[in-house]
Amino acid sequence: MRTLIRNIKELIQVEETPRLKVCGKDMAEITTIKNAYLLIEDDKIIDFGTMEDIKKFNADKIVDASNRLVFPSFCDSHTHLVYSGSREIEYIDKIRGLSYEEIAERGGGILNSAKRLQETTEDELFEDAMKRLDEIIKMGTGAVEIKSGYGLNTESELKMLRVIKRLKEASPLTIKSNFLGAHAVPMDYRGRQSEFVDLVINDMIPQVAKENLADYIDVFCDKGFFTVEETDRILTAGAKYGMRPKIHANELDYSGGIQVAVKHNALSCDHLEFVGDAEIECLLGSETMPTVLPGAAFFLNMRLSPVRKMMEAGLPVAMASDFNPGSSPSGNMQTIISFACVNYRMTPQEAFNATTINSAYAMGISKTHGSIAKGKIANFYITKEIPNLEYMPYYYGTNKVERVFLNGVEY
Ligand code: NIG
Ligand code: FE
Repeated sequence: MRTLIRNIKELIQVEETPRLKVCGKDMAEITTIKNAYLLIEDDKIIDFGTMEDIKKFNADKIVDASNRLVFPSFCDSHTHLVYSGSREIEYIDKIRGLSYEEIAERGGGILNSAKRLQETTEDELFEDAMKRLDEIIKMGTGAVEIKSGYGLNTESELKMLRVIKRLKEASPLTIKSNFLGAHAVPMDYRGRQSEFVDLVINDMIPQVAKENLADYIDVFCDKGFFTVEETDRILTAGAKYGMRPKIHANELDYSGGIQVAVKHNALSCDHLEFVGDAEIECLLGSETMPTVLPGAAFFLNMRLSPVRKMMEAGLPVAMASDFNPGSSPSGNMQTIISFACVNYRMTPQEAFNATTINSAYAMGISKTHGSIAKGKIANFYITKEIPNLEYMPYYYGTNKVERVFLNGVEY
């Protein structure tokens, strides 16, 4: 099956020589082709170029994209989108002035979601998550990482991960799963945190590995959650089963989370509100993708990650939605690029690199996703009639995506 998209006003993020990630100053560059075509065969991109140079193609389907732009789909490398219920009451507590940590200490936050998740069946979780996937597909996401972490006991963590496995089979999205057993310490382990860490290591990890349920392993390594030593133990245990880390770090303090992530050759470390010279130094020369979550920083009204400083130091930066019921109840990557531009003063080009190729790297799929390149998976969207790339973050709050193709098939 061949599909030809023709008369594209501008084809964005084309790569003749695909890269695995884009670092530092290079993040300001995005290659585009004006008045372009894009040819796909089955699930792959096989050709692109300008309409002037178009050859005669036999295509089974022809799509006219006049006045419209074509972008590679967003890759959302950090979400918690399997969850039960919502937490708008805590949202009001936050508006009234309670901090994230104070809400957590009162049994709210992650523990609140864990209680509800434990009471919800696998089928219900699956149905709710499928609706969320449908929502993000329509907003331009083509690949998504989903974490466990609202189980907080072996049975419920396995339940979450089995749901993610079913989502992988049922959804056209490319999905990666991340085992986040150490997300918070459950109430009944208060004062016995090291015993909970033992449970994660001795019970959860072996069972998750046995059922082959996780592509990655995560820990919330931060003040009030898990220490560097505990993170080190958990990641060492995961490594025995081949689980590469992608962890939560430095959201609430200079927690040492970045250092322990790099020590374990994490694929990414995420949040990064607290990043100084030592953290930047540590990330430089590592294979770990610094990942910033602008939705959570906005929603919790937190200090902002020093993204400009990181890019000036030569680091790559990825951005993801953190879609979850507590700190970022939205998986809209179009809003994320608007936050990237306004709050972090990124250019639209930098914001697109952060949410496509670099976030693809942060979920281990940048060889096949994250740009328009020959041989890559045909995951892209056609916009509504819009003037240019810059209009995407500028005209914020509405969906500018008109048609979505995933694995070469129109959704
Ligand atoms: O990435 N920081 C830790 N975990 C989530 C929050 C989850 C929640 O509040 O339910 C996050 O923001
Ligand atoms: Fe998170």
